[in-house]
Amino acid sequence: MGCPQCGHLLPSDARTCPNCGVDLALVALLAERAYLDGFPGAAPVSATPEALVPRIGEYMLEQGLISPEQLEAALDRQRSFSVRGEHRLLGQTLVEMGLVDRETLDRAINRQIIELHAALQEANRTLERRVAERTAELRRALERLTELNQIKANLISNVSHELRTPLAHIKGYVELVAEGQLGSVTAEQEKALGVVQRAADRLERLIEDLIEFSTASREGLTLKLQDVSLPALTMRVIKRSRDKADKAGVTLRVDMPEDLPYLHADPERLGWVIFQLVDNGIKFTPDGGQVTIGARQEDQLITIFVKDTGIGIPPERIEEIFEPFHQLDGSPTRRYGGTGLGLSLVKLILSAHGAEMHVESEQGKGSTFSFCLPTAANAP
Ligand SMILES: Nc1ncnc2c1ncn2[C@@H]1O[C@H](COP(=O)(O)OP(=O)(O)OP(=O)(O)O)[C@@H](O)[C@H]1O
Ligand SMILES: [Mg+2]
Repeated sequence: MGCPQCGHLLPSDARTCPNCGVDLALVALLAERAYLDGFPGAAPVSATPEALVPRIGEYMLEQGLISPEQLEAALDRQRSFSVRGEHRLLGQTLVEMGLVDRETLDRAINRQIIELHAALQEANRTLERRVAERTAELRRALERLTELNQIKANLISNVSHELRTPLAHIKGYVELVAEGQLGSVTAEQEKALGVVQRAADRLERLIEDLIEFSTASREGLTLKLQDVSLPALTMRVIKRSRDKADKAGVTLRVDMPEDLPYLHADPERLGWVIFQLVDNGIKFTPDGGQVTIGARQEDQLITIFVKDTGIGIPPERIEEIFEPFHQLDGSPTRRYGGTGLGLSLVKLILSAHGAEMHVESEQGKGSTFSFCLPTAANAP
């Protein structure tokens, strides 16, 4: 930006112009004042002392240095000049008319500039006070938020642990009954017990996820890193997901080289990540679609991907899907089950491995979730 007085290029933190010495804050204040007084064309002004004090006439009147009639006469003369296209400052006009001497005019201008300076300093002080107050308010809000987050994490953790014990009893006794150890069971009852068992398993998985999530967000994750065979891990995931895929009419495929080297990762956690991605793939893919678990090796890195031919994700909502307890369809009539916890935990597990998730998706066509891990030979 250039100086409004001399046009010299200003450094961004300048308070005065290094070339002509004009006080930039004062020029800005006066330009604003002139603007508010109805002179939109007032800026940029020539920052001579007199021009800096646009209401010098009124000020001199207040100070008893001129009479109202003298001011009126000077303003008349100024106007007649202006009709002829000549610009005359009021102070200059008063001096030319002999109504004040140059010295009195300069003294009045100086006094007004000093008063303006004082007002500017006071405005700066008020502003600093307000900034300090707002900063303190924001700090208090942040502390409160951190406290609330802590309460939430504790609540999730406590409730989940408390749910675990009664669920263990339910599962234990249902198993005893189902096995016929508490008396014979009819075929109808066996069917009903099967439903109860599957529901209890689902509940157990959810509780485990909640505990894992609250522990990971509070303390971070501790990994048990070792050499992992991805094809073997993939087979276990497929076995676990087969039922769900069959019911949904979705085909599961594997697309990875047979001679893939071992990975360096936590096998339990990595298996869980792939399972979650496949679970989502199946859930968000219509009947007749496909979910592929694949891998590619590139030097010492292996890219693992899970690709589906499902409903896809709008590009502007990809960030959202990693938020805990968040589903893209959050409506009460939503079609897909789940708690919205899967991908947030996936993200935590990957970041503990030093990896990052990439998502490519096209609405109506499908999505690919991928991440890279080092081969065992290249482990840090
Ligand atoms: N493959 C996918 N295709 C389309 N949308 C997806 C896919 N994966 C995730 N999403 C969107 O991201 C949201 C969050 O996924 P996330 O796995 O975290 O939760 P969820 O599957 O709804 O529940 P949970 O995993 O806890 O059972 C999903 O509800 C869905 O809206
Ligand atoms: Mg999920």
